[in-house]
Amino acid sequence: MTYDPFAPDTLADPFPAYARLREECPVHRYDARGMQFSTLSRHGDVLAALKDVATFSSRQGQGPFRSEPIALFDDPPSHTFFRRLVTTSFTPRAVQRRESMIESLVDELVSAMLDEPGRTADLHDALAMPLPTIVIARMLGVPEELRTTFKRWSDAQVAGMGAGDVEEQRRTRREMQAYFIDEIARRRALAADGEEMPDDLVSGLVSAAMQEERPISEAELLSLLTQLLVGGNETTTSLLTNVVWRLLERPERWQAVVDDPRLIEVAVEESLRHDPPVLGLFRATTCPVDIGAEIGAGRETGRLDQDQKVMLLWASANRDPEVWDDPDEFRLDRDLNALRARHLSFGFGIHACPGAPLSRLEARLALAALVRRAPDLRLAGPATRIEPFFLWGRRSLPVRW
Ligand code: HEM
Repeated sequence: MTYDPFAPDTLADPFPAYARLREECPVHRYDARGMQFSTLSRHGDVLAALKDVATFSSRQGQGPFRSEPIALFDDPPSHTFFRRLVTTSFTPRAVQRRESMIESLVDELVSAMLDEPGRTADLHDALAMPLPTIVIARMLGVPEELRTTFKRWSDAQVAGMGAGDVEEQRRTRREMQAYFIDEIARRRALAADGEEMPDDLVSGLVSAAMQEERPISEAELLSLLTQLLVGGNETTTSLLTNVVWRLLERPERWQAVVDDPRLIEVAVEESLRHDPPVLGLFRATTCPVDIGAEIGAGRETGRLDQDQKVMLLWASANRDPEVWDDPDEFRLDRDLNALRARHLSFGFGIHACPGAPLSRLEARLALAALVRRAPDLRLAGPATRIEPFFLWGRRSLPVRW
């Protein structure tokens, strides 16, 4: 079947195309725009691929183009080593320590938004974009005055990965790396002088790296820091815009959450299932694979060649009727634990998102503040989509109250 992830209709609403992929073409081959990749769309196939890291390798990067393995963009045993470095900074306790900082930041941002004289705002600009950007910048010890520069760097990395401006990506990556190289050197100098390093993620990684027996290169540290910066920014912004958008799209949904704020957690998790901020990411096959063979007679199956880029479309897996009742409906009466256990929006297995507790916390606190302080919130115009084809979030979300 014809499936073009870059077609305007598909970009605007990819889910009807995903339903056709699951039904008609569970192993789809795309070959255009200088890209060649297959797409898996059924829940069983996507989950099986995420579990089988020996066959579906991360050594060629997460995007449609091939890249060199480094740090977390790799397979075990190297990935395991870097993963441990990062997860020590993202334990549930470490995230909890940030709760009061995030709560007061949410309060400041919501207050500033509600002070708008016209009682209208773009929720993306006023809250969804600044919140995660400021949180991760503070966690990385980036001074507030560099915040806008950081957002620009982060956006360019994401755009470049999805066939955006690769030159701009390279240029901004050099700027970003120069900043981090200075910071790493500053922390190392402090440690060498026996002085205390500031309490942030850069220091955490630098000191963890110093304690390891395996030397960690500057390039590897840079890759980790870049991924923390880029991985957490636009994704959490999209989670926030998506959940508010879906709740306001049907005012009775918003009212249900206003009436019973205990629904906030389900709303966040259902948003992740229904509208994943990352629609899917890529692996490369290490051998030929038969897909769907176990599904049984009468269903389409397919074969992946060796050394092929494969997009694992968890946005489609999350809407697979084999797994979910009424999958295209955004419902607030789903079971929270079942949602958490089964949606794949934070990935699954060894690469599962270490930032998930942080972004859930930000979304929960932001939604709680909005529901409490702006119970009359309404949509004030159409929401527009962010550009990269593998991401799903609102670039603007006009609201009024
Ligand atoms: C709603 C917000 C977020 C979403 C939807 C999301 C999504 C994902 C997904 C799907 C993966 C798996 C990638 C793969 O399997 O190839 C991942 C990995 C990762 N995420 Fe997130 N993420 C979010 C927030 C964050 C935050 C806040 C951070 C950090 C500050 C972060 C840092 C990372 C890192 C470092 C990895 C790589 C893990 C590894 O390869 O072992 N993410 N994320």
